[in-house]
Amino acid sequence: MIALGIESTAWNLSIGIVDEKNILAHKSDPYIPETGGIHPRDASQHHSKKITELIAETIKEAGIDKDEIDLIGFSRGPGMGPCLRVAATASRALSLSLEIPIIGVNHCIAHIEVGRWVTEAQNPVIVYVSGANSQILGYKSNRYRVFGETLDIGAGNALDKFGRNIGLSHPGGPKVEELAEKGNELIDLPYVVKGMDFSFSGIVTSATSKAEQKRKEDLCFSIQEIIFSMLTEVTERALAHSDLNEVLLCGGVGKNKRIQEMLQLMSEDFGSDFYVPNNELLGDNGAMIAHTALKMNLSGEKDSVDVEVKRNFRPDEVEVSWRD
Ligand code: ATP
Ligand code: FE2
Repeated sequence: MIALGIESTAWNLSIGIVDEKNILAHKSDPYIPETGGIHPRDASQHHSKKITELIAETIKEAGIDKDEIDLIGFSRGPGMGPCLRVAATASRALSLSLEIPIIGVNHCIAHIEVGRWVTEAQNPVIVYVSGANSQILGYKSNRYRVFGETLDIGAGNALDKFGRNIGLSHPGGPKVEELAEKGNELIDLPYVVKGMDFSFSGIVTSATSKAEQKRKEDLCFSIQEIIFSMLTEVTERALAHSDLNEVLLCGGVGKNKRIQEMLQLMSEDFGSDFYVPNNELLGDNGAMIAHTALKMNLSGEKDSVDVEVKRNFRPDEVEVSWRD
């Protein structure tokens, strides 16, 4: 069975084609704002302009004919409304013209499922950290349960926002990481963990207010240390309170070497295994959508062609049919 997946929840327009065993092709055409953060309307216009060509190029790269595609999957949410609708509209058109089923996929769950597919993680505590989302999850009784989550913004948005405030271009996350490597003074910033939840917006305000007195490198080092320690603390507690003994990192912030290192060390101390997919599959990508749609369809699911997007679609809303 061959599935084509479309991802366009925010900045990255991406198409993936997979079968049960392999990724046959995946290609992206990201929207990169000239200044400031991502404006949903501008991003969606970029995606609508590029989507037809990107689908054709990905089919070509996979070395298949479009008639060989058995299933269309698209990111149904969470994400920016105008961006989500680009993928939904293209998917409906493909489903109708090729006369194949369509499945709307939860974007967060797709990040998790591709991680379980390409690593050896079976039943991990999941650290899902991206731009808009930050959640610690685990699987139980047919649902991905959210153990803890951000009370305000995602870790990636916090790094991007702080980056913008100190003059870095979007996305700030990777540039903060680069500067942090040259930092060594740990500057006092608010460490906010409440039970299993955490909050990042106060850290951004505090770090920004110190930008005149302190070196950029030290502020970048400190903001990473604080944010990643908070996430590691909650992940450790999730391991302690469950009978799980694996940790899987996913989402764009997972590309950061320092969060990988912290989670790896904590997992080792705990006698648990730590897993992280390669960078291409950590950020938003169409292959994760195609793979999750395929698993859902093989377990008997399909949507009707008018399946709607869901801007605030939570992973714990989804009844999981494809796992034991
Ligand atoms: P979601 O809808 O899941 O929130 P997203 O639209 O935020 O996804 P992702 O590709 O999952 O997209 O994540 C993008 C985020 O990852 C951005 O905030 C970016 O700054 C951050 N990021 C990317 N690389 C790094 C890095 N090396 N260090 C820290 N953050 C990073
Ligand atoms: Fe994402």
